[in-house]
Amino acid sequence: MREQPQLCETVSALRKALAGRGRIGFVPTMGNLHEGHLQLMRTARAQTDVVVASVFVNRLQFAPHEDFDSYPRTLARDCELLASVGVDLVFCPSERELYPEPQTCLVDPGPLGTIHEGEFRPGFFRGVATVVSKLFHIVGPDLAVFGKKDYQQLQVIRHMVRQLRMPIEIVAGETARAQDGLALSSRNGYLSAQERLSAPRLYQCLQAVAQRLADGQKDLSILEQAAQSELHAHGFRPDYVRIRRQQDLQVPTDTCQELVILAAAHLGRTRLIDNLEVTR
Ligand code: PAF
Repeated sequence: MREQPQLCETVSALRKALAGRGRIGFVPTMGNLHEGHLQLMRTARAQTDVVVASVFVNRLQFAPHEDFDSYPRTLARDCELLASVGVDLVFCPSERELYPEPQTCLVDPGPLGTIHEGEFRPGFFRGVATVVSKLFHIVGPDLAVFGKKDYQQLQVIRHMVRQLRMPIEIVAGETARAQDGLALSSRNGYLSAQERLSAPRLYQCLQAVAQRLADGQKDLSILEQAAQSELHAHGFRPDYVRIRRQQDLQVPTDTCQELVILAAAHLGRTRLIDNLEVTR
């Protein structure tokens, strides 16, 4: 049986537990873990001496109408899963510990945080950048792993680390998918049985766009519109399907080869996001 990770609820306990432990790998999470998270932990495990996972549902990145209160909190099960992949320490602070006073000092990622997801979830990336920067200061990792599933989040973190000269290597983890292609997400649990059957359509739609790009379609807005209509026809309410440059998520020039297809769509009460990197 794997050893249970050490639980640290306070900043001082975590710092004490980490003293002199070598190269630190860090994976921040909001808990309710799945195989996608565990892959990120394994990536950190393979490259560092001590692995810290944080489990903290960050109020700052939720809008008032979103699911902060109902977000699943499953710490005991999460710790079992973290033990199975050899995580050493779990930092699970209370809100009082992480935000002992109203957090008025915020990290604003700038224009990258206001496009795509930021357009539909204003303030979301400011909340993410603020908590991740705070966690980075507390944990002091050499390396941190973020999933490509949240593609824009990964780019926002890379941008923050670069601009603020944080001495942390950011490693990207591939998206874990169910057998039918649905990207694993903590929010998939909100889908009804019927919606769960339809949900893989989102990824199929991205694959169809990639195929049309490979077939030589040059007009990206035609592809984006067609994909949105297709999602509509299958019961989704798409927020967007966009083909962008991987590097900065801006509209690509004709010669740009490294693209990413980004999509967000509602299915019932669940909002799904997914993406697919393509090279043309
Ligand atoms: O991706 C997540 O789970 C969250 O946005 C993160 C990075 C843990 C920050 O709260």
